[in-house]
Amino acid sequence: MSAGAHGTPLFQARGLVKRFGGLIAANDVSIDVAPGEVHALIGPNGAGKSTLVNLVSGLLPLDAGSIVLDGADITRATPHARVRAGLARCFQVTSIFAGDTVRDNLLLAVQAHAGSSFRFFADRARESELAERAQALARKVGLEDALDRVAGTLPHGAQRKLDVALALAARPKLLLLDEPMAGMGPEDSARMVELVRQLREETAILLIEHDMDAVFQLADRISVLVYGTVLTSGDAEHVKGHPKVQAVYLGTEDTA
Ligand SMILES: Nc1ncnc2c1ncn2[C@@H]1O[C@H](COP(=O)(O)OP(=O)(O)OP(=O)(O)O)[C@@H](O)[C@H]1O
Ligand SMILES: [Mg+2]
Repeated sequence: MSAGAHGTPLFQARGLVKRFGGLIAANDVSIDVAPGEVHALIGPNGAGKSTLVNLVSGLLPLDAGSIVLDGADITRATPHARVRAGLARCFQVTSIFAGDTVRDNLLLAVQAHAGSSFRFFADRARESELAERAQALARKVGLEDALDRVAGTLPHGAQRKLDVALALAARPKLLLLDEPMAGMGPEDSARMVELVRQLREETAILLIEHDMDAVFQLADRISVLVYGTVLTSGDAEHVKGHPKVQAVYLGTEDTA
């Protein structure tokens, strides 16, 4: 499925262009995500995947194109305004405060996104509500038993889960995941696949991932990016059977 109940995608990027000097890292890229969809973006090294994530999250300015999230034009919005509009992104562990406990990391995140909804709470009630939200996030990603651990001492896989929980604290409509399985062994990867599968119930996901097994298990739709251009989009069968995709990954043919 590529569209929501009213035929409108939740997220719609149109004609994105990004140049680095003479290099075109995004060359008229259009991509959309439907409500509840996991849309995976794959492509060889240097294809422009991270550039696209940076354009969508607002860390890099666009040279051309437009971005709409849930009806709101966020093309020129600041990264913070995009988060408020419902766009969250995992930063591959860099957003974690390594010296703080898992609980404090989560508390800080839920506090940051609590906004004005707590205005009328008494301090005590407010505190316990935030603590409950932090705990619920820990439960969601399977870190309930690690709440009092110092985040920096957690194994890599658990830090990745914490990173996802921190992004979820913003209650996103669209979650950007840039290589969530990177550096994970098979066991942690399988757990992350399971987690992402559960997350789709609360947020749509744009997933960038090199692990093809994970992509084929999770994605409703896959877009293949090559030299800043979308080569093709479709389900796993379509992408696996596409001769140009095979050429790109097996390196048997020039795709230009
Ligand atoms: N800030 C920058 N300045 C100049 N060139 C850049 C910059 N960022 C990326 N590039 C170039 O743009 C192209 C796309 O890079 P990008 O990092 O988006 O690829 P990628 O698909 O994420 O690759 P990988 O799979 O290795 O992570 C590459 O040729 C890269 O060298
Ligand atoms: Mg990258």
